[in-house]
Amino acid sequence: MKNVTITKIASHKLKSFFCWVYQNELVTPIDAIDGEVIDVLSHNGEFLGRGYINQKSKISVRILTFAQREIDQDFFTSRLKQALAKRQNIVNSSDAYRVVHSEADFLPGLIVDWYNGYAAIQINTLGMECFRKEIIQGLIEVLNPKGIFDKSDMKVRQIEGIETQNGVIYGEVPQEISIAENGISFVVNLYEGQKTGFYLDQRHNRQAVAKYIDKDDKVLDVFCNAGGFGLYALKNGAQVRFVDLADHALAQVAQNITLNGFEECEIIKQDAFDFLTLEKMGKNTYDCIVLDPPPFAKTKKEAEGAIKGFKFLLSAALKLLNENGIVAVFSCSHHVAMNDLLELSLEASTKARVPLEVIELLRADEDHPYMLNIPNSAYLSGVVLRKSPL
Ligand SMILES: C[S@@+](CC[C@H](N)C(=O)[O-])C[C@H]1O[C@@H](n2cnc3c(N)ncnc32)[C@H](O)[C@@H]1O
Repeated sequence: MKNVTITKIASHKLKSFFCWVYQNELVTPIDAIDGEVIDVLSHNGEFLGRGYINQKSKISVRILTFAQREIDQDFFTSRLKQALAKRQNIVNSSDAYRVVHSEADFLPGLIVDWYNGYAAIQINTLGMECFRKEIIQGLIEVLNPKGIFDKSDMKVRQIEGIETQNGVIYGEVPQEISIAENGISFVVNLYEGQKTGFYLDQRHNRQAVAKYIDKDDKVLDVFCNAGGFGLYALKNGAQVRFVDLADHALAQVAQNITLNGFEECEIIKQDAFDFLTLEKMGKNTYDCIVLDPPPFAKTKKEAEGAIKGFKFLLSAALKLLNENGIVAVFSCSHHVAMNDLLELSLEASTKARVPLEVIELLRADEDHPYMLNIPNSAYLSGVVLRKSPL
């Protein structure tokens, strides 16, 4: 097995189970080829972990194991079994969940989602791509899916030097799969949907927010995608307006409303910022507003702009909110974390002269694990606020 030596600072990070080595933390020269499995040694020659290398990426090494074990079929099958076992709670109560969440399941670069009998996979790195055969074999053994869809269409594959994929790679996968989440049905389209098809990470949060929604409440689901939050509100008897930009997402909202037998709703195709700007000038008010934008800040550099965006959204929502109304705001970027959301909410509260009670702090559901040693795995933060009377 070839090995690479890393700097002293990087060695300390790996000793506390961080699992990436950046390009500038490698001590040259390195004779490994991109995609190869290598041992990572500390600055003084101690074994730290085994992973794969790709010097084309800024994250040049991703650790697969902190033990000296073979990376073979058994490795992948046992990792998949462990991932499934730790999700037993969800497996017993839901037919759609994430089975593998990349680094947080010690399979960096691999996502596997389960949709009622079908697996959707996303391979985001060259190193994982080299184990495609083992991954598929392991999935067949552990999950016994009717079909596997490869949704490896992320731009990051370009940086890794691999082509994107989007199609069925095992068995058959229907155009539409029906899943049930807390008694609500959703149609998932692996061929056209965002992510691997559905925002599974918000499952718990959709239910958490729904607790505050009553019959006849007026609800605004902004950045609604397939209508997750709004559908829970409809189940409670609320009146809901949905806003998103993506045609495919909006078509799914309509389909999901019909599927659950709810009455027709207003589904608005508009940029959320434009929508809220106009809405502020009108007469509508709401009892609950959900703001669940896409990741505005994919890098640290973008965080400042993202925070400005959040401030705008939240300030607009506060104007539209009835007294004692609820606003739920989510950030799905590690670079705008819980503290940032709280801080910017405080600023918006002061500016709008609206006291806010924090009623819930939310994160991704338990099938998207947060590894204490990997800060980036805490990527989804949510704050539920109540507009208190003056
Ligand atoms: C994180 S997803 C929302 C997930 C959804 N709340 C759920 O529970 O499934 C973000 C959504 O924002 C939409 N979007 C992105 N930019 C937008 C914009 N400027 N205006 C409106 N919608 C936008 C995307 O199409 C996507 O559906």
